[in-house]
Amino acid sequence: MKAVMPIIIRGTGSFVPADTMTNEFFASYLDTSDEWITKRTGIKTRHRVGEGESTATIGIEAARRAMDDAGVGPDEIDMIVVCTATPEYPIPMTAGLIQDGLGIRGCPAFDVNATCSGFVYGMVVAGGLMSADGYRNVLVIGCDTLTRFTDYQDRSTCILFGDGAGAVVLSPSPHPERGILYKNIGADGRHLKCFWVPAGGSREPASVGTVNERLHYMRMRGPELFKVAVTKMESLVGEALRATNLTASDLAMMIPHQSNRRIIESVRTRLGMPEERVAINIDRYGNTSSGSIGLALDQACREGKLKEGDLVLFLAFGAGVSWGTAIVRL
Ligand code: UT7
Repeated sequence: MKAVMPIIIRGTGSFVPADTMTNEFFASYLDTSDEWITKRTGIKTRHRVGEGESTATIGIEAARRAMDDAGVGPDEIDMIVVCTATPEYPIPMTAGLIQDGLGIRGCPAFDVNATCSGFVYGMVVAGGLMSADGYRNVLVIGCDTLTRFTDYQDRSTCILFGDGAGAVVLSPSPHPERGILYKNIGADGRHLKCFWVPAGGSREPASVGTVNERLHYMRMRGPELFKVAVTKMESLVGEALRATNLTASDLAMMIPHQSNRRIIESVRTRLGMPEERVAINIDRYGNTSSGSIGLALDQACREGKLKEGDLVLFLAFGAGVSWGTAIVRL
């Protein structure tokens, strides 16, 4: 097997804010229960940003940890790709704030919004630019604060989301067998209204009416999205394995986006992968959108579950709908 791009993950980092929301918190004021939430989603707790915290602050912390892990200083970073659907402001890009917060000057810094697929999109975009234009140390940071866009009166969505960030430093590899071996990103805009924030953009700017109608919060057609997600994620894994001539048993770990434990379980059983080789942390963090895959990767690395040379499959699916798969040899 030949590496498409000899670009390796040189370091990982992650961060979640300290404040948490348990299922009991939701059951204290909504018609819901720990039993319903656990059974239907697998979520027990999620973290949320507090005063003074935001997408940029959690992104900066995750990036710092990834740079420490990679042994790379601010003056060695030559591009910053921030994957987020919940930017600090509409203008400018969150990447600029993160760049400034890290004390980095002058390198390209931009945002990628591919919702929950953001982290895989970010890695693919960064890897492509590195291969084409010779960037050497690139920060890819997935960071989202969905709790800022959550309607806490809507029991069907508010229980799902948490805030979190995961980051990697990508660098060229001297070993051609390592790096990003396979990548596949895509989208299908027909499913736009399965999961969206109706107002606050150019189509429906903020007004007293949009605020009164709660249109600045996420709206989701959950069951419809669930079906699209399961079908797409299962076919993506099949395509990735066929294209690389690998089988599920070659993978040290699959790291899927964490939107619902039942979705992950369905893909896992279809693949026949044992539980211990599928990263699941949705019970502790809920759906952290672009943060989820980087967060799970960093935790698996720090817990000693992954080592150099291991094959990892990243699998993302999100609003839009968008999707992304990558197979990386660490
Ligand atoms: O990250 C991007 C990708 N995201 C996804 O792919 C998410 C996909 N969707 C899902 O994960 C699931 O659809 C949800 C977790 C959002 C919902 O689970 P579900 O099993 O699809 O439930 P449902 O929406 O079909 O609702 C079943 C019942 C309904 O009651 P009736 O009509 O049967 O009486 C809901 O009103 O559960 C009710 N319900 C709740 N009950 C207690 C909905 N939310 C709650 C709740 N607590 N929090």
